[in-house]
Amino acid sequence: MTARVLDGNAVARAIREEVAPGVAAFTATAGRPPGLGIVLVGDDPASHVYVRNKIRAGMEAGMFVDLQQLPATATLDDVLGVVGRLNASDVHDGILVQSPLPGAMGREAERAVFDVIDPAKDVDGFSPGNVGLLVQKRDCLKACTPAGVIELLDRSGIAIAGQRAVVIGRSDIVGKPMALMLLHRDATVTVCHSRTTSLASLCAEADILVAAIGRACMVTPDFVKPGATVIDVGMNRLDDAATVAALFPAGSKKREQFEKAGSVLVGDVHPDVAGTAGALTPVPGGVGPLTIAMLMKNTLQAAIARVAARA
Ligand code: GUN
Repeated sequence: MTARVLDGNAVARAIREEVAPGVAAFTATAGRPPGLGIVLVGDDPASHVYVRNKIRAGMEAGMFVDLQQLPATATLDDVLGVVGRLNASDVHDGILVQSPLPGAMGREAERAVFDVIDPAKDVDGFSPGNVGLLVQKRDCLKACTPAGVIELLDRSGIAIAGQRAVVIGRSDIVGKPMALMLLHRDATVTVCHSRTTSLASLCAEADILVAAIGRACMVTPDFVKPGATVIDVGMNRLDDAATVAALFPAGSKKREQFEKAGSVLVGDVHPDVAGTAGALTPVPGGVGPLTIAMLMKNTLQAAIARVAARA
């Protein structure tokens, strides 16, 4: 069996095409485009790539995108100051602080920042107010990556209700909201993590398996029930020849990509899983583009709600 490839680029394009007329209508009535403030702190190369893609998508969508970049030496107070200004601004409807913040800011820095983002502008859905609303299945701004996964499943005709879903990873950004969103769609959900015992056999019970652990190719075919849907949220860049050689045989696509470019992007799911799964998201081109499409959708939603709240 070769798994059906779930094309995240195509679904993301469809979502962005649906957002475009909403952006045009908002701009015509509000007299300004929806505005998104992005705060990027430090030098994390992956974060710079993600933010560049978010800026491009926002501009292509016709939004006002404002990048606030701070050096790795910035303090927590510096970041809180920028967020405070964006909170007070009339032309910024959405605020996104790219995670992770530099380690030097301390373990609690991200929480401190997400605590102060105006929940009405919290297009990442990370503020405690939005998380609480999500827990209770109430209207809110929802975390983009798990919301994108739900869109992908729906638009690919993959049933969720009644299915056994296993989420590997319990992060605030993906694992926990993913589990809640699947639960709210009537899946029977198990959340696994680094201390889970019998991980592979537990995962092999899943009809829908979501891998969000940040460990390259950790999910191998023995984790997967034949015919299951496997969603790979991982995005890991490998630049070590020995690691690549251990994971991929000579002549394989990933090995060839590495030999050409000196590094290769892989997910948390080994590509061999395509021989067991019924459907699988590729990396790149799976979940990544959906996160950005959902950010566009959330920013438009926040803009419309903010203007409506003032009318
Ligand atoms: N880092 C990885 N994913 C995300 C995301 O969805 N939002 C933000 N702000 N940071 C991230």
